[in-house]
Amino acid sequence: MTKHCDWLSPLRRVGAAYFPWVLALGIVSQPIAAENGGTIRQYQFAPATSGYQLVLKQVPRPEAGAGEVLVRIKAVSLNRRDLNMLNNDYGGEDAYSGGIPLSDGAGEVIAVGENVTRHKVGDRVAGIFFERWIAGPPSAGALESDRGGNPGGMLSEVIVTHEDGLVAIPEHLSYEEAATLPCAALTAWVGLFKRGHMRPGQFVLLEGTGGVSVFGLIFAAAAGAKPIITSSSDDKLRRAMELGAFGTANYRQNPDWQVEVRALTGGHGVDQVLDVGGRDTLGKALEALAYGGHVALIGGLSGYGSDIPTDSLMWINATASGVYVGSREDFEAMNAFISEHEVRPLIDRVFEFERAQDAFEYMEGGSFMGKIVIRM
Ligand SMILES: NC(=O)c1ccc[n+]([C@@H]2O[C@H](COP(=O)([O-])OP(=O)(O)OC[C@H]3O[C@@H](n4cnc5c(N)ncnc54)[C@H](OP(=O)(O)O)[C@@H]3O)[C@@H](O)[C@H]2O)c1
Repeated sequence: MTKHCDWLSPLRRVGAAYFPWVLALGIVSQPIAAENGGTIRQYQFAPATSGYQLVLKQVPRPEAGAGEVLVRIKAVSLNRRDLNMLNNDYGGEDAYSGGIPLSDGAGEVIAVGENVTRHKVGDRVAGIFFERWIAGPPSAGALESDRGGNPGGMLSEVIVTHEDGLVAIPEHLSYEEAATLPCAALTAWVGLFKRGHMRPGQFVLLEGTGGVSVFGLIFAAAAGAKPIITSSSDDKLRRAMELGAFGTANYRQNPDWQVEVRALTGGHGVDQVLDVGGRDTLGKALEALAYGGHVALIGGLSGYGSDIPTDSLMWINATASGVYVGSREDFEAMNAFISEHEVRPLIDRVFEFERAQDAFEYMEGGSFMGKIVIRM
């Protein structure tokens, strides 16, 4: 299972006695004022007994250098990865101390540095997940530029970034909605459309009702496919049907949910899977896969390291590909699809900036469906 040991404890430590203006070292000081010219408010990870805790700091307002853009962040969203960072599930000694949490955010351009040509003041933008993965296949350098837990994080009233690290957001989306796109939506979109070559009428399997899977459901339905989604909750499955699911299965009530999924396809099997479950789901998802199907290897909610029955892939002429979010070029292609189909993300709940720690705790509780947002 994913290491869940004690990741809530950093929140609890900050928890009941938490003030949003707790400073580093846990000293309660004067309230930190919202942005006022020279300074801004920004959350940072700080070491805790186990993992990290969130601390709100007042820091100098960044300035845009040559080629850089200043963005007033209006909303950010959470991904499972952000919880994993808080709990230090990825290991690494003090890897995120002083880093700004969260990869995903959207806002308005408020200043541009010299030689900036891609953006102007007033533009509505979102950060791209990898600040330096612009187009084509990734490089080691591009993959090192992932946002979150470092200076590229988004949980800050104002951020500075190279102009290449942003995309324009679809006009019909609010900032809250656009803030959900950079990681979960793009991962689902790349898995289904770029790698899976989505076609109308295909059966598509989504596992659970978290961020990636609900985007997969919404995208597949918008493309005229037949999404089938699993969940531990019948209530969430009912809501999934309202979002356009073709069929559903409760993986908690039915441990052999893959049989139910195949039956829902009339025995054909699913043409595509976004596998976010990992160790406990991948083998079962392959049992539900159709001839010539595609499985996107995305997540490890139940842990990684599945024993993949490679022969089962071979016998049915299936393909599998690893997906690690995507490039700016992919993000722009996804935005074109979102605009064309007027797709709207499913936001479960919006928290205020001062209650950021509640958003993390809410995600850990597991009652959410789709995305959790923090408004700035
Ligand atoms: N490779 C990439 O680029 C990439 C990008 C984004 C995310 N990921 C990974 O993909 C996974 C999902 O991320 P996320 O942000 O979408 O997560 P999330 O929003 O936190 O999704 C959590 C939901 O997944 C479902 N779930 C949990 N354990 C499950 C299991 N064993 N089998 C089936 N469903 C299960 C539950 O849904 P119900 O409540 O409905 O049961 C739970 O509420 C994570 O492992 C994450 O690290 C990878």
